[in-house]
Amino acid sequence: MIEPSSQLIVVGAGAAGLYTALSAARRGARVTLVSAMPLAGASSYWAQGGLAAAIGPDDSPDQHLADTLAVGRDAVRESAARVLVDEAANAVADLAALGVSFDADADGQPALALEGGHGRRRIVHAGGAATGRRIIRQLSAEAVNDPRIEVLEDRRVTALLPHEGRCIGVRLADGETLTAAATVLATGGAAALWTRTTNPPGATGGGLLLAYAAGAALADLELLQFHPTALVASDGVDGLLVTEAVRGEGAILVDAAGERFVDELAPRDHVARAVHEAMARTDAASVGLDMRRVDPALFPNVVTALRRAGIDPERELVPVAPAAHYMMGGVATDLDARTTLAGLYAVGECSCTGLHGANRLASNSLTECFVFGARAARAALTEPAPPAVASKPSAVAAASSTTSEASPAPTRPPALTTASREALWRDAGLVRDGPGLTRLLSDPHPLVRLIAAAALARSESRGAHQRRDFPEVNPAFDHRHVTLTRDRPAAVEAWR
Ligand code: SIN
Repeated sequence: MIEPSSQLIVVGAGAAGLYTALSAARRGARVTLVSAMPLAGASSYWAQGGLAAAIGPDDSPDQHLADTLAVGRDAVRESAARVLVDEAANAVADLAALGVSFDADADGQPALALEGGHGRRRIVHAGGAATGRRIIRQLSAEAVNDPRIEVLEDRRVTALLPHEGRCIGVRLADGETLTAAATVLATGGAAALWTRTTNPPGATGGGLLLAYAAGAALADLELLQFHPTALVASDGVDGLLVTEAVRGEGAILVDAAGERFVDELAPRDHVARAVHEAMARTDAASVGLDMRRVDPALFPNVVTALRRAGIDPERELVPVAPAAHYMMGGVATDLDARTTLAGLYAVGECSCTGLHGANRLASNSLTECFVFGARAARAALTEPAPPAVASKPSAVAAASSTTSEASPAPTRPPALTTASREALWRDAGLVRDGPGLTRLLSDPHPLVRLIAAAALARSESRGAHQRRDFPEVNPAFDHRHVTLTRDRPAAVEAWR
């Protein structure tokens, strides 16, 4: 018989995965952390923004909540947003205790940045716009040095193991099977499915397909946030994110005629659409981001990256355009990160708590990784031990496939082609419509098809999801989530 490999398996070693693993280990649990790449290779490494937390003297969780609700366009699950704003300050304090050194002002107080949609300065950052890198480095070192955490690097999960209605572990690409009382997906987002993206190439939603194949519900896949200011440049640097925080420090956006056309600190969906429209109006491939009055010392890594790309932001306009940036949808969870499949949890960008609604408030997502990572660890450690199963890995798969509800995912993720990526950009970009989305239903890539199905089910325009054929908000979708579960039609649900 297979003995459980550990109490908890965490899949993914970005901010959410590392923090969940560390939170569980600090509660005394044995954890297996599985990472498809070497530690510090995850998407969160590139996160430039920071953590939104109402810690300034003029701020409060209630104000943070009000901004999150307003920006989320009447689609935020308020209970999840309440958890985030109330627990954000503790998350920042705990990261500091774990050795993350956040930027401070001249008085030694946290230096708080301003980003679009925030009514107050409330973004805690590290190394200017190097927050993700600093956090990931520190948490990776903590995880490697923690004897309760076994780190498996360069190991890919190819299937979850549903057995008698619960997830009892994972199967790895080499056929090895790991079992545990609970499995936490922290596999990141899917924005690299679109051709023009700020995300590294691996962010293609693999965890979503694993969860779906195992029988867990996905939600709100149509809600993909486009970042307004991604560099337009040659391959290799195209899509480089220029953080919104530069606009918080006074950078402005100008069209081909050199005119300002938008309030640069309006919510992200609004600014991205304004950039898109300004480009269409002037038939231009980009608009200009004017950072010439911004102190370059505040954003050393952004300025260095732009110079490397051949642009001197102190002297010239930076050519920018929208790019796919963040998936608000994901594996549907409750407020403790439980999915609809017992024993399976999801945290961070691969999850959908409903907290971001139809338009994520900038920098709420990094905070989410820690707030919900801690909750996931707490809840997951109350799960019962997995049942003993026959010792051959294939027997686990066979056992699970004989149950009525779910069978393991295919062992190999489907190849993502340039054609699928281009189709998604064309037909599920900043503005979509029924005919384009219907075309995507026959795309070879399963996640493209699921995104199209969700986008067709949301027959309205709201936040990041804009449809030419349904240009208005439909109040029937207020605070409703589009869910997809294997072998069932798309559903529209209200979540408490
Ligand atoms: C940014 O820094 O502009 C991105 C941060 C985020 O997406 O929250």
